[in-house]
Amino acid sequence: MAEKILVVDDDLDTLKLVGMMLQRQGYNIVAAINGAQALSKVPAEKPDLILLDVMMPDIDGFEVCRRIRTDSNYASIPILMFTAKTQVDDKVQGFESGADDYLPKPTHPAELLAHVKALLGRSRSTSTATTVPVKRARIICMIGAKGGLGTSTLAVNIAATMAARKQDVILLELRPGLGIAGALLGINKPSGLTALLQRKPEEMNTAMVEKEIVGHPSGLRAVLASTEPHDYAMIVQTARIEAIVTSLASLTQNLIIDLGCGLTEATAKLLMGADHVVILVEPMRHTILMAKALMTDLETLGLAKSRIEFVLVNRERSSLQMGRAKVEEILTQPAMGMITPAPELAYQSAESGVPIVARDPSAMVSDQIRQVTDRVMAKSRG
Ligand SMILES: Nc1ncnc2c1ncn2[C@@H]1O[C@H](COP(=O)(O)OP(=O)(O)OP(=O)(O)O)[C@@H](O)[C@H]1O
Ligand SMILES: [Mg+2]
Repeated sequence: MAEKILVVDDDLDTLKLVGMMLQRQGYNIVAAINGAQALSKVPAEKPDLILLDVMMPDIDGFEVCRRIRTDSNYASIPILMFTAKTQVDDKVQGFESGADDYLPKPTHPAELLAHVKALLGRSRSTSTATTVPVKRARIICMIGAKGGLGTSTLAVNIAATMAARKQDVILLELRPGLGIAGALLGINKPSGLTALLQRKPEEMNTAMVEKEIVGHPSGLRAVLASTEPHDYAMIVQTARIEAIVTSLASLTQNLIIDLGCGLTEATAKLLMGADHVVILVEPMRHTILMAKALMTDLETLGLAKSRIEFVLVNRERSSLQMGRAKVEEILTQPAMGMITPAPELAYQSAESGVPIVARDPSAMVSDQIRQVTDRVMAKSRG
């Protein structure tokens, strides 16, 4: 069956021209000459794609777009904004209102057709996909054998190391309500993850996710968790979490996810789709046994052992702890890296909002973090 495109434009000539061009390509065309008509035709016609003009006398394209996006039945219809407004601000406003793509007028028919085909192709593949979504980024999941081992600190610092090397990286702090990365990066009141988790998965699109990414002077980008403990309840929103990760994976080459500790439905799914899983462990017998149990769980779920690595984090200067060799013996696997105690630097870093590796690049712990980063990056993608 031919795909249906709703073309919205108050200029009748454009409407005819574009409509005829697309019709010749085999699409089924429905037209609307203003915003109100467009809004009534969406539920009546259920188009597969909407080509939307911005400047219209009644309701403008931005508003039409916003209203379509608030109705969960139609929120996932791809919208291509097609307009004479070419300022950057208009483009930003277009994406903010929920458009998937943007073309300035006048556009060459071949270019318009290419965009239409790409958008329809993408939406066909997402609506028929039942398993793992298309991903482009290398996904690195960081998980603690238990809480408080320094998982977030390491995730932030690996991401900061990559950004300092001009590598394209996004950090996702999947700790709703328990955010710490904002403090470590000097970003006030982070709310990106909470805002996204409030969206239904079918409403989520890449533009929306992109809006919640915060930038850092180092070049690092991040979606950060809030510090409102009640937000933690949203960790059960597996479909929403998967939709966020799918979008982020399409926006970067490297996605680092701070999973905290423990397995939830969502974290287990993400771990299965990860290229690399880094488990943090401390030199204490009970924690090592928890790390081993976690690895067994992940293998039982189907994750290849070759994707799992351990990093030994020792946060305390104490002669009572076991050495690396003993830890590896109990783990029955070598550790990929080791982080030694740096309490003063960890404290100063959190106080100043500057990651450890940037605050004191010559410290031993910074060197250790860079080594872990190198090893993760050197591994082939899973
Ligand atoms: N190498 C280190 N030496 C000393 N202290 C450290 C080191 N790394 C992290 N810390 C400190 O340990 C504490 C816990 O770190 P962090 O918040 O990163 O742990 P986490 O595993 O993410 O915790 P949670 O389970 O709460 O998410 C912080 O106070 C941090 O500054
Ligand atoms: Mg943490």
